Formats: sequence, C-alpha cells, structure tokens
Amino acid sequence: MTTAPTIPGDAGQAIALDVDDIQAGALSERPSPYVGRYLLLRVDDPRHGRELVRRLAAVAAIGPDTPGSAADAWTTVAFTYRGLEKLGVPPASLAGFAPEFREGMAARAQELGDVGESSPEHWEEPLGSPDVHVAISVLAPDAARLGAVAERARAASDDLGGVEVIWRQDCYQLPSGRTSFGFKDGIGQPDVEGSGRPLRNPTEEPIKAGEFVLGYPDETGSLPPMPSPDVLGRNGTYLVFRKLHTRVAAYRRFLRERAADRAEEELLGAKMVGRWPSGAPLAVAPDGDDPGLGADPARNNAFRYGDDRRGLKCPAGAHSRRANPRDALEHEMSVDTRLHRMIRRGTSYGPPLPAGVLDDDDQDRGIIFVFAGTHLDRQFEFVKTQWLNDGVFIGTPEEKDPLVGGSDGHGTFTIPHRPIRRRLTEKPPFVVTRGGDYLFAPGLRAMRWIADLDT
Ligand code: HEM
Repeated sequence: MTTAPTIPGDAGQAIALDVDDIQAGALSERPSPYVGRYLLLRVDDPRHGRELVRRLAAVAAIGPDTPGSAADAWTTVAFTYRGLEKLGVPPASLAGFAPEFREGMAARAQELGDVGESSPEHWEEPLGSPDVHVAISVLAPDAARLGAVAERARAASDDLGGVEVIWRQDCYQLPSGRTSFGFKDGIGQPDVEGSGRPLRNPTEEPIKAGEFVLGYPDETGSLPPMPSPDVLGRNGTYLVFRKLHTRVAAYRRFLRERAADRAEEELLGAKMVGRWPSGAPLAVAPDGDDPGLGADPARNNAFRYGDDRRGLKCPAGAHSRRANPRDALEHEMSVDTRLHRMIRRGTSYGPPLPAGVLDDDDQDRGIIFVFAGTHLDRQFEFVKTQWLNDGVFIGTPEEKDPLVGGSDGHGTFTIPHRPIRRRLTEKPPFVVTRGGDYLFAPGLRAMRWIADLDT
C-alpha cells in the first residue's frame, strides 16, 4: 500500500511514498514523552544472523499506524556495513553503498572532528568496533509499551547462539521535556514531501522524499545512488548514530561566570542555541522566552533569518542557525540549504543534573544523536564539518559551534550587538563523542531479501 500523495512534486508529478515498506524510525516523529532502548548485536553465524533479520522484519513491521496495543511503539532495525557483509550480502551489492557508510564512522574521525578525548581510541566499547553488526532501536510513549516491544526485539535472538547482544542503552525524555542542557530539542525538522505528516514550516517548501528515503527523486531531480538489486536499496535510509556525552556542569559554569544575573545567563545560553529553553526561536522572540511559541508546532518552526542578516536577533554562530541557516546564506553565497537538511531523531540518556548544580557529578548523560538521510556526504558530514566545526562560512573562521563544536578549551563565540558585539572566550568543550556508527535501515522487503540470502 502507498500513501495518497499529499503534495505535488516540482515537476507536477505526484509523489507516493511506500510507507508500509519504510521503517518507522525515519519518518515518524518520536512520541512525547518517550522512553526508548538501543541494542547492538554481533553476528557470529551468518545463518543465525539471517534468521534474526527475518524475525526482526516482523517486529519492525509494527509501526505507529498499526492498529492494536503496540500502536505507538515501534522498532527500527539497521545494519553496519560490516553487518551486511557478515550476513552474506553479495559483494556487487555491497559496492553500491555510500563510501562513508562502507568506511564506517570511526574511520572518518579526523574529518568529523572526533579527535582528542572524542577520538575512537576513547570510545565506549563496542561503539565503532568491527563487532557491531546490527542495531535495534525501540521507542514508545511509556515503559509498559516499550517493555512489550523491546522484549520481542531482544527475544528475537534468544535461541540463536550465533548472535549476541553486545550493548544496550536506555533513553527517555527528561521530566522537563528538554535535553540535558535544558533546551527543548527535535523541533527544527524538514517537512518531507509525500510523507503524509503534518506540515510544520510554511516558510520552506517540503523537501523531496529522495533526500531521506532511497528510491525517490531528491532535490537535484535525480534518484540518490543506491545499492542493487532494487529491492535492497528501495525504501531504505542511512542513519547516523552517535552517543554524545554532555558536560552540563561545565556549560552552566561557563554561563554563570559570564553573566551578571540569571536573566543574562538564560540570554547567553539562548544565543548559543538559537532558541530559548522552551524552544521559542530567537528569530521570532529575540527579547525573551515565549513558552507558548515554543510549544506551538504551527509556529515554532515557521521562521527565516533573512531580516536578521547581522545576527542581532539570532547570532550567525548559534547552533541551530549553523545547523540550518535557512535563507541566511542565499544572498552572499547562493548556498542551497535544501541540499543539507537532516531528519533528527535524537533521544536523551542519563539522569538530569539537578537544577542549579554547578559541579560535575561524573554521571554519563547526553544525547543519542540520530540522523536519517540518503546523502551522508552532503547532509550529515557537510553540516558537521563545514557548518558546525568551521566558521569560514559565517566570516569567523576560528569559531566552531558553541554547543557541539570540538574545542581545545579556548573556543570563542561572537554575539552581535549594538553598539558593540560581545565575545565569549575560553569556551571549554561541552560535548564529547562516546562513539557511534553509520547504519543502513533497509525497507521491510529488503530485510526479507537479506533473510532469504543463501550463501
Ligand atoms: C549533544 C549534542 C547536541 C545538542 C545538545 C543539540 C541541541 C540542539 C537544540 C537544543 C536545538 C534547537 C531545537 C530544535 O530546533 O530542534 C538543535 C537544533 C538542531 N541541531 Fe542540534 N544538538 C546537538 C548536536 C547536533 C549535531 C551533531 C548536529 C548535526 C551534525 C545537529 C544538528 C541540528 C539541526 C539540523 C538542528 C535544527 C536546526 C533548524 O532546523 O533550525 N545537532 N540542536
């Protein structure tokens, strides 16, 4: 079955996405609140691995639109390149995957800025290691529904001696509904043409489905490269999976030391993120938080930066504006931001640092960053390397992203202001990469194709 086309394509063609074959993880917004679980598995015996894939295909087929008790809990299954190799996907098919995926995330560490304490030699085991073959994520609105579906996913490998669960990470929406730094997340998302999901950003035409799902035209009008045979690639998507530890106490101290009072602390934090804690964008609410705006999906993503070229409302270097400059680069650089859009499906892990605490408690907390898209190179890697880890494109070459850009402890962040700008210096790193990998989440038919391989 396919969805009824909701929006005509540029060429006047109707786009119909085969949503019954596409795994729920990419196109479905996570519930709020949510609880979730990630499992990583190693496959030692390809036959057992393929049997696992067969069982997981049945679990992953239960999506948010499936009637029944598990209706809003869902499982996404994805594979590393090594995992596909291990499962017996033929070399000719493997050769058709994106080069970055084939290399794996650890091998891309230098390019991605995963250096120093974020470098793979310090990653949590087994993240980034050759042992990671299969990744499973389960998301649900509450623990009861998570438990039922997660147990099905876990039990799929129970009697298969040649498959082992080697890592587990639980995640959940913090009681505040925000991430560990105190900000609402997951708001700035592209509308996807033909997905049937409600449109959130009236200032941006929906992005072509081929930017996020293989087998459909992308923004260039072409089909994104995909592996053969057709059944393997179609309706699949690449995922970026990264465990990012957040240094919340260091972040709070940094603001405290530079602000005269709590209001200024909040302002400096908002300038770094580009949104207020509630999610209200600075571009719309430059002078103070507006919780009504932050909570309103019809308004909290409906803005551009065109009337704020100098960044007096939202600094050009703010995290959200770097990650998606919207129309800000159209004039000077003719950059087409539509080629660099990302679906993010991140979740929080670890206990919150209690309000007001400024000392580190050595707890592991942060974000499981998940990106979905068809172009690892011009989407995730481009945004990470050119926009977050570099400041050339906004005329401040020495500045990196204030929130997530790697730093040697001497980072700077410029806040445009009249009559004189403000510059925050000696910024330590607030985010450390604990590990991750590039994954491929195939369509359900592709999973059954893999399960049926006979090698
Ligand atoms: C611990 C790490 C990170 C934290 C705490 C974080 C936090 C946030 C927050 C609070 C927002 C604003 C709310 C929203 O629009 O959803 C945001 C937006 C965004 N972030 Fe991050 N982020 C992190 C890492 C990353 C990374 C590594 C990337 C990309 C490589 C990224 C890409 C984006 C994008 C694309 C947006 C939406 C911008 C928009 O459309 O306006 N983030 N992030």
